[in-house]
Amino acid sequence: MTNLRSVVAAALTGLALLNLVLGHPAQLLRQERGISDKPMIARRDQEALDKWINTCHDQGAAVDYSLSTPETTIFTSNATSALTPETIIGPYFVEGEFIRSDITEGQDGIPIHLDIQFIDVNTCEPVTDMLVDVWHANATGYYSGVESQAGLNTTFLRGVQVTDHDGVTQFDSIYPGHYVGRTLHIHVVTRRGGQILPNGTYTRGTVNHIGQLYFDQELNNAVEELFPYNTNQFPRTSNVGDFLTADEATADYDPFVDYIRLSDDANDGLLMWITIGINTTADYDSLAMAAAHYYKEGGKSNTPNFNFTGFPFPGGNLTGNFTFPGNFTGFNFSGLPPFPAGGGFPGFPSPTPTAAPSVQPWGPCLKKREA
Ligand SMILES: *[C@@H]1O[C@H](CO)[C@@H](O)[C@H](O)[C@H]1NC(C)=O
Ligand SMILES: *[C@@H]1O[C@H](CO)[C@@H](O)[C@H](O)[C@H]1NC(C)=O
Ligand SMILES: *[C@@H]1O[C@H](CO)[C@@H](O)[C@H](O)[C@H]1NC(C)=O
Ligand SMILES: *[C@@H]1O[C@H](CO)[C@@H](O)[C@H](O)[C@H]1NC(C)=O
Ligand SMILES: *[C@@H]1O[C@H](CO)[C@@H](O)[C@H](O)[C@H]1NC(C)=O
Ligand SMILES: *[C@@H]1O[C@H](CO)[C@@H](O)[C@H](O)[C@H]1NC(C)=O
Ligand SMILES: *[C@@H]1O[C@H](CO)[C@@H](O)[C@H](O)[C@H]1NC(C)=O
Ligand SMILES: *[C@@H]1O[C@H](CO)[C@@H](O)[C@H](O)[C@H]1NC(C)=O
Ligand SMILES: *[C@@H]1O[C@H](CO)[C@@H](O)[C@H](O)[C@H]1NC(C)=O
Ligand SMILES: *[C@@H]1O[C@H](CO)[C@@H](O)[C@H](O)[C@H]1NC(C)=O
Repeated sequence: MTNLRSVVAAALTGLALLNLVLGHPAQLLRQERGISDKPMIARRDQEALDKWINTCHDQGAAVDYSLSTPETTIFTSNATSALTPETIIGPYFVEGEFIRSDITEGQDGIPIHLDIQFIDVNTCEPVTDMLVDVWHANATGYYSGVESQAGLNTTFLRGVQVTDHDGVTQFDSIYPGHYVGRTLHIHVVTRRGGQILPNGTYTRGTVNHIGQLYFDQELNNAVEELFPYNTNQFPRTSNVGDFLTADEATADYDPFVDYIRLSDDANDGLLMWITIGINTTADYDSLAMAAAHYYKEGGKSNTPNFNFTGFPFPGGNLTGNFTFPGNFTGFNFSGLPPFPAGGGFPGFPSPTPTAAPSVQPWGPCLKKREA
């Protein structure tokens, strides 16, 4: 299956630019292709998070989707979505990445086919022709493209798509791994007015959403049991132990992706989907700091001047530079607790698990369905 997929994917790479011109043949692309720690303090909306955390997002019992299910079936035509909260871009955003649907680049892990639909909360219409940038860590917790991680010249598990007439983008990747201080997540940044370049990258535009996607803890636990996730050396952080998860939840917006397991064999992977409500005219450029930019000549590090205004840092309004590896300069941390020993940000406790990770077999979600 993997071989066939990669052969077809390679054949389709040449079509990428044509796809952009002709619109976005989403169906074609689709065919190619227990820990329990203490909740973190300073939640923006702990109550909202609890509601979604206690909901089972495994839709295997409810729907009979496969990789050839049309996106219009997955996303019903009368979509609505609550405004998705903005969150921090984090220190691993890289600009200038390739426009491509399959971002796997041979990274080992459980395949995921992620469909994201974007809805304009002002009109309830799909957001079309918008650049959507995603990136995430590999199974053992490393990002590409960044100096202190896999290196400036690597691009795995990063890529950009353009929303189609249903406001949908489709990505093929692997389930992300974890790293210090964070639960498993995928970063998403969208921009309006960007320009697609002849070399398959993009330039400019205005960032109108900065978000992160999360997964059911049960599913995370099951994946972490499997190779190569089970060779990840970093301490684990659960959804409730991650200080940013609640930042992304509201009473009306559920930050966890829906999914089905494509078979009882984990190697067949998952089909996942989520609807994101955005304010298309918003401007978050000042919060979209990139750690590096990928050029023809290779990746180039930036010295991002991070602006955390509006985010729930204990200091409220931190501005400064983040350099690699893991050093902050120019921030005023005076009066805040020191950096946590387990990683993360000053002012937030160490994300040390208080219980051993639960052993979760690959299977249907056992948690009571509450949605
Ligand atoms: C969806 O919207 C269309 C057009 O506005 C309407 O005719 C249809 O009844 C709606 N369907 C549902 C399920 O609400
Ligand atoms: C993840 O990336 C790191 C850095 O490139 C690499 O050493 C590691 O082998 C990768 N993990 C897997 C499972 O391939
Ligand atoms: C959308 O963004 C614009 C520009 O920043 C702002 O004026 C407007 O109030 C925002 N709308 C919503 C619903 O947040
Ligand atoms: C793509 O083209 C732009 C504009 O010429 C250039 O700056 C950039 O380095 C190119 N990127 C790649 C990966 O070739
Ligand atoms: C990235 O690749 C370019 C072009 O091959 C090379 O000049 C540059 O030194 C490389 N950078 C790193 C950090 O390896
Ligand atoms: C920081 O971000 C806030 C919110 O977007 C913005 O109002 C402010 O101007 C930014 N500050 C700097 C120094 O860029
Ligand atoms: C945040 O920083 C901005 C720009 O320096 C300043 O105008 C604002 O008053 C600060 N807000 C808080 C809560 O400190
Ligand atoms: C950052 O680097 C400076 C100089 O190397 C060092 O003095 C400082 O302790 C480092 N800060 C952190 C938070 O690691
Ligand atoms: C952050 O780095 C930029 C570029 O090097 C520099 O201009 C700016 O003064 C730095 N800001 C702080 C707070 O250190
Ligand atoms: C740093 O923050 C502390 C406490 O908020 C404040 O008293 C101090 O003046 C700040 N220092 C600078 C250089 O802004």
